[in-house]
Amino acid sequence: MTGNRPRAGQDWDAEGYARHAGFVSELGAAVLDLLAPAPDEAILDLGCGDGALTLRIAATGARVTGLEPDPSMAARARARGLSVLEQDAHDPFGSACYDAIFSNAALHWMRDPARVLRHARAALRPGGRLIAEQGGFGNVAAVVTALNASLEAAGHPVPPLPWDFPTPAAQRARLEAAGFAVESIALIPRPTPLPTGMAGWLETFGAPFMPGLDPAARASVAADTERRLTHLRDETGTWHADYVRLRFKALAA
Ligand code: BEZ
Repeated sequence: MTGNRPRAGQDWDAEGYARHAGFVSELGAAVLDLLAPAPDEAILDLGCGDGALTLRIAATGARVTGLEPDPSMAARARARGLSVLEQDAHDPFGSACYDAIFSNAALHWMRDPARVLRHARAALRPGGRLIAEQGGFGNVAAVVTALNASLEAAGHPVPPLPWDFPTPAAQRARLEAAGFAVESIALIPRPTPLPTGMAGWLETFGAPFMPGLDPAARASVAADTERRLTHLRDETGTWHADYVRLRFKALAA
């Protein structure tokens, strides 16, 4: 996770991300299956984060490059031996032409998704594929509602949603406008166990909601948010986030 992650009001600490949100890449198996990389294909992993999934693509024999704007994440991906374009996805992806572009848990961080999709189309050969999974409509709605209520109750401003969680119809329209033919697109509800609990999730992903709050105020908002979300903790004490993914395959027309 990620992309493209960070520039929506968040800087990343790659170690913290691995600890609290390593599950994001662990749950990427289905979208990797949809990618079905072939040996020697040129593939770009858009918003590759720390490179955990990029490495799995490389293991198939594909020639994979990561694209990641966050220096801490890019450094971790390079330390795995991966080649990384350290840049914002809102800028053109360079002169290389790819057979496929893959993206997991990154597109929802983009400030201008339509622009990023145009760059993706330009970087693909005709008939090349864009295979992606991101947060979809309704993603983490309960968590966001509780977090906003806690901010409001404490007298803090409630910022706009820092992520893009589109409906299939909205994303299909964007993809078509960017020059793709959509082969499949669907919302997938996926309640997701949180290995370090709601506190860990809020520490990793809650920052864009709390700009300017000091550590004590952040801790207090996080504790109040947890209190409002007890229905997301199961009988064993495990927290689950109300994730809804949007997974799609689109071909460069
Ligand atoms: C996600 O991967 O679904 C996600 C990432 C950041 C914030 C919320 C959800």
